[in-house]
Amino acid sequence: MTLNSLQKVNKAPMSEHPEDPIYPVPARLLDPAQCPKPYISSLEQYQQLYRQSIDDPSTFFGKLATELLSWSKPFHTVKHGGLDHGDIAWFLEGQLNASYNCVDRHALADPNKIAIIYEADEPNQSENITYGELLRQVSQLAGALRARGIKKGDTVAIYMPMIPEAVVALLACARIGAMHSVVFAGFSAEALRDRVQDASSRLVLTSDQGKRGGKTIETKKIVDEALKNCPSVETVIVCQRTGADVPMKAGRDYWWGDECGKRTNYLSPEPMHSEDPLFILYTSGSTGQPKGVMHTTAGYLLGAAATVKYVFDYHPGDIFACMADVGWITGHTYIVYGPLALGATTVLFESIPTYPTPSRYWELVAKHKVTQFYTAPTAIRALRRLGDEWVEGHDLSSLRVLGTVGEPINPEAWHWYYDKVGKGRCAVVDTFWQTETGSHIVTPLPGAIPTKPGSATLPFFGIELAVLDPVSGKELEGNNVTGVLAVKKAWPSIARTVYNNHQRYLETYLKPYPGYYFTGDGATRDKDGYIWIRGRVDDVINVSGHRLSTAEIESALIMHNTVAEAAVIGANDDVTGQCIHAFVCLKPGVSCHSTDLNKELVLQVRKVIGPFAAPKKVYLVEDLPKTRSGKLMRRILRKIVAGESDSLGDISTLADPAVVATLIAKVANS
Ligand code: WT7
Repeated sequence: MTLNSLQKVNKAPMSEHPEDPIYPVPARLLDPAQCPKPYISSLEQYQQLYRQSIDDPSTFFGKLATELLSWSKPFHTVKHGGLDHGDIAWFLEGQLNASYNCVDRHALADPNKIAIIYEADEPNQSENITYGELLRQVSQLAGALRARGIKKGDTVAIYMPMIPEAVVALLACARIGAMHSVVFAGFSAEALRDRVQDASSRLVLTSDQGKRGGKTIETKKIVDEALKNCPSVETVIVCQRTGADVPMKAGRDYWWGDECGKRTNYLSPEPMHSEDPLFILYTSGSTGQPKGVMHTTAGYLLGAAATVKYVFDYHPGDIFACMADVGWITGHTYIVYGPLALGATTVLFESIPTYPTPSRYWELVAKHKVTQFYTAPTAIRALRRLGDEWVEGHDLSSLRVLGTVGEPINPEAWHWYYDKVGKGRCAVVDTFWQTETGSHIVTPLPGAIPTKPGSATLPFFGIELAVLDPVSGKELEGNNVTGVLAVKKAWPSIARTVYNNHQRYLETYLKPYPGYYFTGDGATRDKDGYIWIRGRVDDVINVSGHRLSTAEIESALIMHNTVAEAAVIGANDDVTGQCIHAFVCLKPGVSCHSTDLNKELVLQVRKVIGPFAAPKKVYLVEDLPKTRSGKLMRRILRKIVAGESDSLGDISTLADPAVVATLIAKVANS
């Protein structure tokens, strides 16, 4: 793993424009006549608090956890264990419930406050849900889950479109102490099946269909297909999104409305220990098998709430809009748990940025007077390409903070976001984090940290970063260094384990560089101490901010009956950041001249993983570059596709060096 890393850390300045000026905090944010005073309003204040958070984390996070969360039983020990032994625990002896923190306490204070603005696929179908209503709906579904036998510690799978019931689903599980395992509704039936099986989910929450960009998604059909082979699932509760006539299996499938209608409008929350699991969420790693990353209650919730407060500088009355899908960690933390923990109004966006027109985001901002807007660089790049006219003429004056996440943002996209959307009067926060980190770990703070386009800037409170030499594992001290990014101490929202596989957790994150949490990303610390994320150093590909493993796509391809072998790599793409190129060797006797086969192989990946994993290019080849011991040299394929065939390095170790020329010709002719 380490050797591979060294080869892959991109040392050339990728997106760094040294001539780019540092962007100070926009003056408007610091003008009390125009904006609420940022919680952290100078670099010095950030530095001082950051120091405290590192020097005395118990005091710092003890205070924060008391301020931001409500406890049914106070904690006494702020932190225990750590990265050395993988026994991380925070806020011990304490008890709390995440749904109480995200719903009840705000409903009790003001039941009429709007919790969720549901911006439906068709713009004129939006709806508001108050905290009072949310409490009733969460209670009812929690009661329905209990009535179907779900108890504390069970797992519930959620496969739903972006409708308010999806938020209700997460919170209802949290209310009774069941772990939710949300599977992004873009995953195929097979991918859903694997995740349901791995988590031994007992119940599935889904909908009849979904709507996205005017298209219908056959959610329930996919669930039916997936469950053909899931003996752990006893019950499916189906919410009506479109009212379509979908088959219901007697004794297994029940309508959401019927189930909830039988239950009371208030159900008391189950007291949970700080370290009781809140959810699992699957993510891709270096192997074909997705990992069920597990987060626990108190630490995760604190990370979510603290970053919404400080990174988005959330103030009461703000309208918070995260454009992610609830199926990914960004949706968990920044649509559901973070904003709701603070009693904010959160926007739930069911559609896509270009439906019905590429003005959709900006109409949404103007209509709801959004103050914080959070999206991915891929969306920014796509909208930038479509032209400025789509963003012009919309009232974007409510915006204060613009966030990006998921992949490095190139300076061109950053500038467009800053100038055209933010009109030079909003802070842009490039937030680096991962499913495993639970919440932001490297990010600017809008009122305090000057930004550089393309840099995630500085660590959040409690995050002690290290840039390591990938081979020796030694910490690279000082500035102007490039290596792999690691964290030196555990923080509250770090994932605690991989579901049912603690060994894999240790091996993936804690053992590669003992004593550190290994992010899997390369990074540079520049002359000013700013962090520039260089992308993954493992076999993970980032397509539109979606994390995919080469091994997962390869194994999907190999399942096709014509395929003998496959090698998948990430290539650069102007819009999606990276895209997938697949090299496929067919079984002897299979003709490789059929163009239909290319299409079929793309379909194969869509079927096994989901449409978002579809290769952009498939090359049918005779042979793959391998060492004599049979190790696949993806590096060579990456170089060939990038047009860098003149710098392939040493190919004499290949079992058959002649294969290279054939591959170069194949790629050139395709
Ligand atoms: C990987 C994590 C949690 C965010 C959504 C993706 C990449 C994430 C940035 C950023 C550069 C970024 C990294 C990371 N990434 N944010 N601001 N700049 N790269 O979560 O699916 O767990 O993927 O996304 O490579 O390791 P994820």
